[in-house]
Formats: sequence, structure tokens, C-alpha cells
Amino acid sequence: MTDAILTRQSVRKFRPDKLTEPEVTQLIAAFNAAPCGMHQTDVMQASVIKDDAYLNKIEDACDHACYDAPLLFVIATKADSQFGERDASVAAENIMVEANSIGLGSVYVMGAAFSIDKDVALKKKLGIDEGYKIQVIVSVGYPKEKPEAEDRSNRYKVTIK
Ligand SMILES: Cc1cc2nc3c(=O)[nH]c(=O)nc-3n(C[C@H](O)[C@H](O)[C@H](O)COP(=O)(O)O)c2cc1C
Repeated sequence: MTDAILTRQSVRKFRPDKLTEPEVTQLIAAFNAAPCGMHQTDVMQASVIKDDAYLNKIEDACDHACYDAPLLFVIATKADSQFGERDASVAAENIMVEANSIGLGSVYVMGAAFSIDKDVALKKKLGIDEGYKIQVIVSVGYPKEKPEAEDRSNRYKVTIK
């Protein structure tokens, strides 16, 4: 299996190595290519965290729930938008699939997103605008090990009529 969607699996153990600038640029392009409800492009914003000082602040605030990844995409949406959670999720998937296509691992982290969202001072330091809620953090990095394979061919109920 080589398809980047089909081979993507959540990765929670990362090597400490930093991503290259072209890799970071490619992931930002994938974020920017995400669909958005009613083409409301101002609903969503992201902070791409690669600096160790900020990474440590986030990991300390969420008890390492971002798995000490070397890169974090903190995705926030307008708190009052009906599209927010959906926009953030499709953008997160874009990043995760793109990451897999270039040999990087990733995981969608909701728990830490909620913890960091409550930390108003840290949120501001991360560059998230007032009125925006952190919906998801995508942890990205070089996988330390290959996750255990899982047969996902029948994970969900699918009805064909
Ligand atoms: C809405 C949502 C919330 C999630 N939150 C977390 C989380 O907080 N921490 C975590 O380690 N994984 C989280 N995940 C990843 C799931 O655990 C993972 O996608 C699921 O176990 C299926 O595994 P797979 O991604 O390898 O197919 C989340 C995924 C989704 C879609």
C-alpha cells in the first residue's frame, strides 16, 4: 500500500530531529489547501510551533499530551463559527496525509488543544488571535518506530445501496 491516505496511521513516538524548511513549507501549503465552509477563509488560523522554548511551554501546559513532537500545528477557529470544528478537522487531515506522503508521522490531538485553549496567556504568546478557539493540535515529526499495523478495511459501518 503506498497511498498516503491509506497508509497514514497515528504516530505518537517521535525522533527529536527538526523538520527541514521545505518540509515545513509543504505542510503549511497542505494546511492552506484545506476546504473551508462557505469559503469563509477568516474562520481559521494556525500557529506552527518549531521553537523549543514554545514547544516546551506547550508540553508543560498539557502534560506532554502532544508527545514531544518537534513540530506542532496549533489550529484555531473563530469561537462563534458554525464551521470551526469541521474546518479545523479537514485541515488537520490535510496536514497528516501530506506529512505521511513525505515520510513524516503525525497525530490529531484534541485533549491538549482544550488544555492550551484555557491558558489565555500562552495562547496569546503562540499568536492565536482573541476570539479564536484552539480546536486541534497536530503533532508532526519523524516516527521513532512504525506503529503496529491495524486492519482498517471495515472500521466503520458502510452501507451501499
Ligand atoms: C476528533 C479526534 C480526537 C483525537 N484526539 C486525540 C488525542 O487527544 N490524543 C491522541 O493521542 N490521539 C487522538 N486522536 C487520534 C485517534 O486516537 C486515532 O486517529 C484513532 O485511534 C485511529 O487511529 P489511526 O489514526 O491510526 O487510524 C484523535 C482523533 C480524532 C479524529
